[in-house]
Amino acid sequence: MNFQHVPVMLNEVAAFLAPQRGGTFVDCTLGGGGHVKALLQPSPANPKPSPLSQGERVFAFDQDVDAIEAAKRNLAQFNNITYIQDNFRNLKKHIKEPINGILFDLGVSSWQIDEPSRGFSLQKDGPLDMRMDKRQKLDAAAIINHYDPDDLAKIFFEFGEERFFRRIAKAIVSYRESHPIRTTFELKAIVEKATPGWRKRETLSRIFQSLRIAVNQELECLHTALEDAIDLLSPSGRIVVLSYHSLEDRIVKQTFKHAGQLKILTKKPVTATEEEVNLNPRAKSAKLRAAEKVG
Ligand SMILES: C[S@@+](CC[C@H](N)C(=O)[O-])C[C@H]1O[C@@H](n2cnc3c(N)ncnc32)[C@H](O)[C@@H]1O
Repeated sequence: MNFQHVPVMLNEVAAFLAPQRGGTFVDCTLGGGGHVKALLQPSPANPKPSPLSQGERVFAFDQDVDAIEAAKRNLAQFNNITYIQDNFRNLKKHIKEPINGILFDLGVSSWQIDEPSRGFSLQKDGPLDMRMDKRQKLDAAAIINHYDPDDLAKIFFEFGEERFFRRIAKAIVSYRESHPIRTTFELKAIVEKATPGWRKRETLSRIFQSLRIAVNQELECLHTALEDAIDLLSPSGRIVVLSYHSLEDRIVKQTFKHAGQLKILTKKPVTATEEEVNLNPRAKSAKLRAAEKVG
């Protein structure tokens, strides 16, 4: 398995976390371990002082067992990392000590998207799965084949902000009356048929995004985890969040704003440089928000 993922806004993440040397660091979204590795191993791309050293205690969460396995291989030279295969909504179940720095790099990794068997990709056919945690029962096929039309429409509207939400829900329900919908390309064809030509591409990515959010309950998990992370931060501890769509960014902004004892370090979200976007198109939609615990 070749786990490919280029960490986003590495310099900016390192700079926001740099004052928090020493103590406990948590990466809530380990992926292939790209951020952790770069933070632990100063390199020309990583500004000094590095926020982490091998003296720090690092806790690394990912709910995807494949990500944890890939990261363990990638980070084999470090012995200060505790790997936790769990949803970051359960942060407080595992972390009982004050945190000096915590990172969320939300969504799925490039590897998960590119791996057809995971069912996230619009470009490659695969089973309608989309679970980040393969131990979970609910997958995209269950939603598409069994949810009633109003619930489907609600997912497309709320999590995809898709304007043809009713029309697409209706097309899915009418198709599944004769054939169960099993693959990403079957769903793609149904959505394309129900959408005007000028809008097909955008609608497809909105429908896939909304399904992924529903399968993994991404927004509820994020809200809970951010509140718990802020609560666990030590005085002058820092939190950094990278988000990739407006629904996530809104939750980060609102949670920071309403949390007591938090100084917001990014009045507006920080975005990637043009140079980085040219090298890594995934960085284009990234928004970084950072805050520091006061008191
Ligand atoms: C964008 S990738 C992180 C990439 C990583 N920063 C790197 O540089 O390699 C996001 C990772 O977070 C994981 N993830 C997303 N939501 C999660 C959640 N609620 N709990 C635990 N892991 C989650 C995904 O499985 C994925 O591996």
